[in-house]
Amino acid sequence: MSNQSNSLRTVSIVGTGIYLPEKVMTNRDLEKIVDTSDEWIYTRTGMHERRIARDDEYTSDLAANAGRAALADAGVSPEEVDLLIVATLSPDAFFPSTACYVQDKIAAKNAYCYDLGAACSGSLFALETAKNQIATGAVETALVIGAEKMSTFLNWKDRNTCVLFGDGAGAFVLKATGAERGIMDGVFGSDGSLAHLLSTPGGGTRHPMTHDMLDEGLQYLQMEGREVYKHAVTGMKKSVLDVLEKHNLSSDDIACFIAHQANARIIEAIGKRLKVEDRMFMNVEKYANTSAAALPIAVHEAVQAGKVKKGDLMLLVAFGGGFTWGANIVEW
Ligand code: UT7
Repeated sequence: MSNQSNSLRTVSIVGTGIYLPEKVMTNRDLEKIVDTSDEWIYTRTGMHERRIARDDEYTSDLAANAGRAALADAGVSPEEVDLLIVATLSPDAFFPSTACYVQDKIAAKNAYCYDLGAACSGSLFALETAKNQIATGAVETALVIGAEKMSTFLNWKDRNTCVLFGDGAGAFVLKATGAERGIMDGVFGSDGSLAHLLSTPGGGTRHPMTHDMLDEGLQYLQMEGREVYKHAVTGMKKSVLDVLEKHNLSSDDIACFIAHQANARIIEAIGKRLKVEDRMFMNVEKYANTSAAALPIAVHEAVQAGKVKKGDLMLLVAFGGGFTWGANIVEW
């Protein structure tokens, strides 16, 4: 039985791809930049290293590389893409959208393109958006990319934040298929009253680009780590339970749980509370928190590592600035 109502088509992820910049920045490298230690970073976050893009590599370059890889994996040509969404909080520019730059770079000339802003939950929200457009028949093929050049928006003098993030991109190709369940309907939420706990406040209409704003460092990402941590654990746990309940499934039905890769302790806490530690995928040690890119990168690597096989169910769950959160279940 399909998870979609009668007139809707079942949609599947038919290809994945990732791109990580070449440059590796280790915790030891960070010891030379701010007052931190490999021991502090590893025990608090599980991170060993992260990737940092070159100055001449933009978010759209990371996204285009991941997008090309996903299209090749799916055996889909760029011309076949009808819809191209880039989820990012570190766009090339305010406008045009990073997705439009990507379209040009990969020659997806028949696609309509836009960015989606939901911070670390962006790829999950974009997956749902694209899935629904294919399910209704509005489009046939979508390319969903999560891409971040976080390094541009980090204050490299602030040890509270600069050690936590990395650059990278991951992509999904979506099509209608004859699969039984495909990408199942997700559960999603937001709470704008907590926006101040995680944001890059400067540069927009709230704090326009002035010398004073730059002197205050408002162009950089700011986070109340401990508060975000608490909300991330409870929010993602609830999302997992809600989406399982929505589809009348139990955690035993899920082959692999893929959570937003913000902190190993968060992922472990969720795994423990739900008693699914053995099936929680983790790669935060290699890439740190790549925001909207983290989920598609993790899905790609989980599949490559054989954690999910054809027909298995994987559960994706995310949490990020806004706050935003959500979860969905994908039949592989
Ligand atoms: O992507 C969106 C979601 N993001 C997240 O989910 C991130 C959520 N938050 C976290 O992952 C954690 O809260 C952090 C990793 C950010 C921080 O870990 P924590 O265990 O909550 O540490 P803390 O903020 O309570 O800080 C403990 C101490 C502080 O010193 P005092 O005030 O106790 O003397 C910090 O100043 O650690 C200090 N500290 C550091 N020390 C060495 C903070 N950053 C560093 C650092 N190196 N890089």
